[in-house]
Amino acid sequence: MPKLKTIYVCKNCGNDSPKWFGKCSACGEWNTCVEEIEHKESKSAPRITGYDFQAQKPILLHEIEISQEKRIDMCNEEVNRVLGGGLVPGSMVLIGGEPGIGKSTLVLQVALHLSNLRILYVSGEESAKQLKLRAERIASHQTDCYIVSETSLETIYKHIQTIKPELLIIDSIQTIFTDVVDSSPGSITQVRECAASLLKFAKESNTPIFIIGHITKDGVIAGPKILEHIVDTVLQFEGDQHYMYRILRSIKNRFGSTSELGIFEMRQNGLREVTNPSELLLSHHQEELSGIAIASAIEGVRPFLIEVQALTSTAAYGNPQRSATGFDGRRMNMLLAVLEKRAGFKIAQKDVFLNIAGGLKVKDPAIDLSVISAILSSSMDIAIQTNCCLAGEVGLSGEIRPVNRIEQRIAEAQKLGFTKIILPNHNMKGLTSTFPEIELVPVKKVEDAFRILFT
Ligand code: TYD
Ligand code: MG
Repeated sequence: MPKLKTIYVCKNCGNDSPKWFGKCSACGEWNTCVEEIEHKESKSAPRITGYDFQAQKPILLHEIEISQEKRIDMCNEEVNRVLGGGLVPGSMVLIGGEPGIGKSTLVLQVALHLSNLRILYVSGEESAKQLKLRAERIASHQTDCYIVSETSLETIYKHIQTIKPELLIIDSIQTIFTDVVDSSPGSITQVRECAASLLKFAKESNTPIFIIGHITKDGVIAGPKILEHIVDTVLQFEGDQHYMYRILRSIKNRFGSTSELGIFEMRQNGLREVTNPSELLLSHHQEELSGIAIASAIEGVRPFLIEVQALTSTAAYGNPQRSATGFDGRRMNMLLAVLEKRAGFKIAQKDVFLNIAGGLKVKDPAIDLSVISAILSSSMDIAIQTNCCLAGEVGLSGEIRPVNRIEQRIAEAQKLGFTKIILPNHNMKGLTSTFPEIELVPVKKVEDAFRILFT
C-alpha cells in the first residue's frame, strides 16, 4: 500500500514544505500556499514512462558544435517578430493569457498556416469536432496537422512516437496529467512534472513545443508562474475581450529581445495581423473635438499614435469621480495636481474621465503630455488642432522631461500626415535626422505647451 503524504506547495514559485505556511520562505509571497497529496513512492519510481529518454553524456564546451541556429518561419510576421525572428528548434514556448482571449485560436491559426511542418495539436479542452469547427472559421492551407483530444501525458508520448511531429502544441498544460504523480490535473505538482518532462522531450528530440497556460486571478488552477522558470520563452496574449485588439507580448525570451510586440485584430474568421497599428487606433475625426489629444507613443520597440480622450464635468455630489481606462489612475491624479498648480484647474470640483481609445493599456510615460492636454482641452472646451500630436513626460514641477526614441516617434507622426509635433526641448539636441514635412515645436514646461495649443 503506497503511503500518501500531504505537502504544501507555493502557487507562485512551486517551493514545497511539509507544513502549512502563510508566507513562502522561498519567494516571500503571502497566501500562496495550497495543499497537495503526494505519492510517497513516486520519488523513487522512474519519473515519466511512455517516452524513452536517453541519458546525455557530459561534453567539453569547445567540442559542442554550433550549427548556425536555423529558425523556423512561422509564416506569421507578428509571431515571428515576438519570437525574435522565428521559432528555435527544440525550444519550449509558453503562451499565457486569460480565458477566452484567443490563445487556442492563435496557435491553431499558426499551425494551419505552416504548410511544410508535421504538427501534432493536443487539445485537452476541446474535442476534435470542436477544433474542426474552429478551424473552419479560419481559412487554412495545412493538411499535415494532426489533432488529438487527449489529457494523459503517457498516451501523448505514444502518439508522438507514431506521428513524429516536427511541432507539438499542448492546449493547455493545466489539463494534462501524468500517472507518476497522484494529484489532480491542474495542480502544481502535475503542471510542474508534465512541463519538465515535455521540456526534456523538446531538448532531446529537438522538437519545438508550444504550451498554452491559463492565468486565473484567484489561482485555483496552477498559474504558469512556475512554468515560466522552466520554459525558454514566455509570451503573453492580452487585450480586452470587448475590444478587437490583441497584443502578443514577449515576457521572457532566451533567444531574442523581450521588447517585441505583436498586434492582432480578432475577427469572425480568426486573427488578422495588424502591421500598421496607428491607423486602427486613431478614429480620424473630421471636425475638431475638445478633450482629444493624439500622443506619439512607443510600446516595446514599435511607435504608434494613440488617441487620448478626456471628459471633465462639474462634480455634482460629494467626492469628485476619477476614472482612467488604459492609463494608470495614480499617475492621472498626479497629472491633475500638476494641472491645478500650473493652470489653475480646480480639481476638487471636477469629475475627470480618461480613456485611451481602442482599449489599449499604455505604460509609456511619453503620453503624459497628451493626457494633461486632453484634460485641459475638455475643461476649457477648446479643441486641439487635428494636425497636431504630442510626446513628452511631465515632471512634478510641470517640466517636460525628455523621452526615448524621439526620432521614431516623429517619423511615425510624419508618416501619418501630422504637420506639427510638440516635444520636449531636451530632445532637440540629440536629433540627427531632419523631418521636412512636420514642424517640431519644442517645449520646456507645460505652460509653454498650453500656450501653443490653446491660444
Ligand atoms: P479561444 O481561442 O477559444 O480563447 P482561449 O483559448 O484563450 O480560451 O477564443 C475565444 C474567443 O475568440 C471566443 O469568444 C470567440 C472568438 N473568436 C472569434 O472572434 N473569431 C474566430 O475566428 C474564432 C475562432 C474565435
Ligand atoms: Mg482555449
